[in-house]
Amino acid sequence: MSDRFKELAEEIKSFSVSNDEQLESYRLRFIGRKNIIGDLFAQMRDVPNEEKKAFGQSVNELKNLAQEKFQELINGLNSREAEEEDHPDLTLPPVDNEFGSIHPLTATRQRFIQIFERIGFNVSSGPEIEDDWHNFTALNFPENHPAREMQDTFFIEKNPDIALRTHTSSVQIRVMENEKPPIRTLSPGRVFRNEAISARAHCVFHQMEGLYIDKNVSFADLKQTLYHFVKEMFTKDTKIRFRPSYFPFTEPSAEIDISCQICHGDGCNICKYTGWVEIGGSGMVDPNVLKNCGIDPEEYSGFAFGMGIERITMLRYGIKDLRLFTENDVRFLKQFNSL
Ligand code: DAH
Repeated sequence: MSDRFKELAEEIKSFSVSNDEQLESYRLRFIGRKNIIGDLFAQMRDVPNEEKKAFGQSVNELKNLAQEKFQELINGLNSREAEEEDHPDLTLPPVDNEFGSIHPLTATRQRFIQIFERIGFNVSSGPEIEDDWHNFTALNFPENHPAREMQDTFFIEKNPDIALRTHTSSVQIRVMENEKPPIRTLSPGRVFRNEAISARAHCVFHQMEGLYIDKNVSFADLKQTLYHFVKEMFTKDTKIRFRPSYFPFTEPSAEIDISCQICHGDGCNICKYTGWVEIGGSGMVDPNVLKNCGIDPEEYSGFAFGMGIERITMLRYGIKDLRLFTENDVRFLKQFNSL
């Protein structure tokens, strides 16, 4: 019998495990409910009385040995796992990294800024929640202008009026109130209008505002600057035209059209078969606006423009539905991986 004890003790001592399955097979053999040491206890009945004591002692020793070894094996496995975490296996094949991409609206904004920075413009910003003064009154909007109506603008409070800004022109006022001319600034940002969402309209979109104030700034400067911009943003052969228009904060005012980037003038449903698409508004800053900001209109003049970033992005990449910009569909966004 003592040989059997020795054999088992040897087996326990030399047992080694390198994973949870092996540990489990140890546990089933030496620790679990119907284990091999339990069988030995059961054999006590048949052992002659004078040997019972020694037998019992040996079985107990074996049991303790198995318990200690079990704890040792558990500890060994735990520290091995901790070690592996510290030293990852460098021979494993790499995990495939998915690269994100720049959102097309961001790409257009960045390109816009790049073009204007080279001709001396800086970048400024203002709040998306605006007061009446900056969004309307200082921009020369009359008391009864339709943009001041509840159905066009998202008001947060009435009297005094606080609203989500309807355009980035509010930033013009903030810049002119705080800085002395010469001013050359671009103000990108989100704007909000109470409109139903469709392929061509959204209640949240982005604009890029431009403002240039100095001595002797003329309409010729406005035209030349925008010619330059359009050729840089689109292609060298892109044509531009100015259509007389009206904005309360500019005089004279002009709508900016460019030759259609989709059909190149042949006529398509994007340009409504005219060959031209509107990209924004512009004009010479109204003297009343300069006065409202403490700038002397006798000494200074300037031009301003505001363009839709979504519109320009749609023309750049031939995107036909505005809703794609906010749906976050990776199949759409992935196409801009190289930007
Ligand atoms: N704020 C105008 C709009 O949202 C666009 C605009 C027109 C901005 C003429 C200007 C400007 O700075 O001079 O419709």
